[in-house]
Amino acid sequence: MSRPLPSVLDQALASAVRAPSPHNTQPWRFAVEHETVEVWLDRDRVLAVADPHGREARLACGAAAFNLQISLRANGIAAVVRLLPDPAEPDLVAVIRLDGNEKATAAERRLAESVFRRHTNRRPLLDKEVPPAVQAALQAAALSEGGRVEYLGTSGRYTPVASLVRQAEALQAGDDAFRAEAAFWTHRAPDSPDGVPKIASGPPPHGHGIVSLRASHENRDLPSRQYEREPLLGALLTRDRGPHAEVRAGMAMQRVLLTATAEGLATSFLSQPFETPHTRAALDRLFTGIGQPHTLLRIGYGYPTRLTARRPVGEVLTHRVGPAS
Ligand SMILES: Cc1cc2nc3c(=O)[nH]c(=O)nc-3n(C[C@H](O)[C@H](O)[C@H](O)COP(=O)(O)O)c2cc1C
Repeated sequence: MSRPLPSVLDQALASAVRAPSPHNTQPWRFAVEHETVEVWLDRDRVLAVADPHGREARLACGAAAFNLQISLRANGIAAVVRLLPDPAEPDLVAVIRLDGNEKATAAERRLAESVFRRHTNRRPLLDKEVPPAVQAALQAAALSEGGRVEYLGTSGRYTPVASLVRQAEALQAGDDAFRAEAAFWTHRAPDSPDGVPKIASGPPPHGHGIVSLRASHENRDLPSRQYEREPLLGALLTRDRGPHAEVRAGMAMQRVLLTATAEGLATSFLSQPFETPHTRAALDRLFTGIGQPHTLLRIGYGYPTRLTARRPVGEVLTHRVGPAS
């Protein structure tokens, strides 16, 4: 194949770091060597209290790998992704090998563009239904990456899952270590290169909604507002569990989020029940026989909010010089 221009790789790496990550910790590092890009989990940036096993961090790295792949594809370069290729290196999450030239499709270009518009929207959404065809498009996006989106309303799991979100939120609110960790990463200045800035938080809810956003992500400078009555909630599942499934789920999650962005939808996460052992076990039981739940997405129409910053690519990139090819 013709060698990719450096600017194409630069663009792919700039896309990779736009991936979502818990509290915007950006738990990744990248290494570029000839025609491969490696995605490494950065243990120093895994949330010790909320994510002691690095599960959410692996979802984030999977999302970064997906961004890399879709950016290369949009620039006409085929990219083969191998997940966790080396058992001796469990933090080597993915290796992306550039694999020749291949004309990009309009759909791939649309997703690659959405990388730079996607953001987590913690504000109230409109009480406007997401059309069934759009819901189906999000499910197809997950399926094409080996994941699955299960809408809670249609599966009868809405009320029990919403209750687990509230239970977990209450447990975390009473846990000093949890609160301290969340406080460290949130309410940052608007230009903070990591963490969640105050401008990305939502207003305090007026009354009790059916689901609860994180109290740590509330901006109490704003007047309280009524949130949507019953947001569309989708659980992202895979058939298997474990680190490989988590990276795969991260890739599927990102394709779903980018598809939603391209469709003009706002998205946010409700991760509380995954982060306390009791609610996580209850959540797993609720989906027994269907799949392993990895994350819970709130999806709907809203007004776009500000993008949050990232650390510059140069800070997370190692260039390796291998043997000349
Ligand atoms: C696995 C995972 C879990 C997350 N959980 C939550 C959550 O529970 N609540 C929330 O408001 N944001 C959550 N987020 C969103 C991150 O805070 C967000 O991606 C990060 O701050 C970067 O902002 P951006 O998504 O707007 O680019 C989660 C993100 C990931 C990848």
